[in-house]
Amino acid sequence: MKVAVIGAGNVGAMVAGRIVDSGLADVILLDIVPGLAKGKALDISDARPVFSSTAEIAGSEDINDIRGVDVVVITAGLARKPGMSRSDLLARNAVVLKGISSSIKKHCISPIIIVVTNPLDVMTYLVMKTTGFDHRRVIGMAGVLDTARFINIASGVLSSLEGDNVFMMGSHGDSMVAIDRSKKLSGKDFKEFSDRTRGRGAEIVSYLKSGSAYFAPSAAVFYMLKSILKDEKKKMCCSVYLDGEYGEKDIYIGVPVVLGVSGVEGIVEAGLTPEEKAAFKRSTQGIRSVIDSLKIS
Ligand code: NAI
Ligand code: 2OP
Repeated sequence: MKVAVIGAGNVGAMVAGRIVDSGLADVILLDIVPGLAKGKALDISDARPVFSSTAEIAGSEDINDIRGVDVVVITAGLARKPGMSRSDLLARNAVVLKGISSSIKKHCISPIIIVVTNPLDVMTYLVMKTTGFDHRRVIGMAGVLDTARFINIASGVLSSLEGDNVFMMGSHGDSMVAIDRSKKLSGKDFKEFSDRTRGRGAEIVSYLKSGSAYFAPSAAVFYMLKSILKDEKKKMCCSVYLDGEYGEKDIYIGVPVVLGVSGVEGIVEAGLTPEEKAAFKRSTQGIRSVIDSLKIS
């Protein structure tokens, strides 16, 4: 199996490292900055003896080198700076992702694509529309990260991504919707932990000053990749295309899904309360207004 990681910045390089360290797949790492992907690929490959990994990695600035890969992870584009929202990245990253989508379409027959670039739900929609690929094979990463953040913030009460039955749905933005089926949290704790989760990305940016989170984001991408490449069929929240599910059509938004070798193998209906439904609806409205402003479809 071979994975292309496009964008060798903080998230992309860390994703590539996690794949090679674990031996999950071979990697082609790409970036438009001359030498950046090649240098980072060499550095990552030097760690292989430490991890007893035989996975291959190469770096390149030539997008033609994605030819024949099984999965493409798109992390290319701008990251947030202090004071910037994810949506501030919209216009610049839309141009970058349109170009990359055309190249993927030209060089790969039927890859699975994981989009990371922000604003996440809209960029994933744009990649699906520009490539014209089956929407079950174009998936956005956010829900695994946001759910992991929630569980970490609630550590002491919650501990497991897979067992606690707490998850973050909706858009990867301020209107993300926390769902708690754990019966372990008080109403006060639930509110505090979900508010802190919504603000976590900005909190990290405010400390870093330049650039945004990448350790947990790369771990979330790795979790998705593993479920796909090993056909684990794990349930997790991802930004996926809705075609009637949750009463919505023609939108990418975070919901629980089953991820396997074919991509999105099922969308799980979470059974929302009226309050959760209303919050989810507000989240869809935010995404739709951005999609409309880009005139994608
Ligand atoms: P970064 O700035 O460290 O890396 C981005 C890389 O993309 C740069 O090296 C740049 O040269 C490269 N690039 C730009 N245009 C390109 C092109 N056409 N082809 C190939 N490479 C290109 O940024 P970082 O921290 O890695 O974040 C990447 C993106 O992921 C940002 O949009 C960020 O907001 C987003 N992000 C999304 C998360 C999520 O939960 N969905 C979590 C963390 C980051
Ligand atoms: C985050 O949530 C920037 O979307 C990124 O950290």
